[in-house]
Amino acid sequence: MKLKRSFYIKTFGCVQNRADSERVKAFYWSQGLAEVKDWKKADLVVINSCVVRESAENRVYGLIDNIKKFDKKIKIVLTGCLAGLERAKILVDKVEIMPIGKISYKIKPLREDGETALIPISFGCDNFCSYCIVPYARGREKSRKETEILKEVDEALSNNFKNIILIGQNVNSYGKGGFAKLLTKVAERGAEKISFVSSNPWDFSDELIEVIACNKNIDRLIHLPLQSGDNEILKKMNRKYSAKQYLVLVKKIREKIPEVEFSTDILVGFPGEDKKAFANTVGLCKKVGFKLAYLNKYSPRAGTVSAKLYQDNVPSEEKKRRWRVLDKLINKKLS
Ligand code: 5AD
Ligand code: SF4
Repeated sequence: MKLKRSFYIKTFGCVQNRADSERVKAFYWSQGLAEVKDWKKADLVVINSCVVRESAENRVYGLIDNIKKFDKKIKIVLTGCLAGLERAKILVDKVEIMPIGKISYKIKPLREDGETALIPISFGCDNFCSYCIVPYARGREKSRKETEILKEVDEALSNNFKNIILIGQNVNSYGKGGFAKLLTKVAERGAEKISFVSSNPWDFSDELIEVIACNKNIDRLIHLPLQSGDNEILKKMNRKYSAKQYLVLVKKIREKIPEVEFSTDILVGFPGEDKKAFANTVGLCKKVGFKLAYLNKYSPRAGTVSAKLYQDNVPSEEKKRRWRVLDKLINKKLS
């Protein structure tokens, strides 16, 4: 008897990719392939790639080379953010490229976690933060239909999932101002906890704050990417707020939801970030008192505005030092 063909999937990067991989897996299972946990035993390796930092992109190329060196017969399918970029084309003789948009939301995901369901509500990004490659890799923001999202929420709840995480690059611009309404409907379905990532400060409406305040099952830990606490740097990043506006928003949310806590993303070592600019970020972090921060060292990405316009002029050692300062302050709570 011929053994069933097998596939292995490697997922790099963020929660979007994790969610997409749950559908890719379901797709290959439906084609009659069985998943294996060692790529060396697979007939097909699917790489769900990330390109947000150079190191992540290089790991994708490294894995492709290792597989090819090990066994030329293993078929490789490349999906995820690298598959959306022009430069993936140089890989065509090694891999089959499957743009992430091809993975239909009609496929029911094979969820990794039995308690928490990741539910995509939008895809892509319109913001063009100057350092970020995501809008090029994933294209413009498209919102998923509300009926489709609620159906997926209902299915997860009837399968005993307790937590729902609504995901998208910029969830709070869902449906051009419709996020607060969607969140209300999701909250009313009765999950124990509903979270959402990522939301950006400029789309955080009063209506959204009200909805969170009124629904106790919406997570009190809100993820609100800061990136920098310096106005000059924020401007060069094309973020649409000042340090003061960020603080005003945090204060407004705290007034309505006193038990709220914040987590964030920060990018250290952006071009031109001098000691004073970094000190502004540290100062703002102290004022907010984040519970948790995802810290990133700036990595110029070919094709982005910041890579074109600005020289990557903060030395790598200094980026590391700044990373450690914030890690101690926020994640280890040592000041
Ligand atoms: N270099 C380093 N980190 C980056 N991020 C986005 N682009 C880059 C880059 N070029 C970080 C941001 C974002 C997170 C998802 O990745 O902090 O919030
Ligand atoms: Fe990138 Fe900015 Fe869009 Fe986030 S909001 S994906 S950082 S362009």
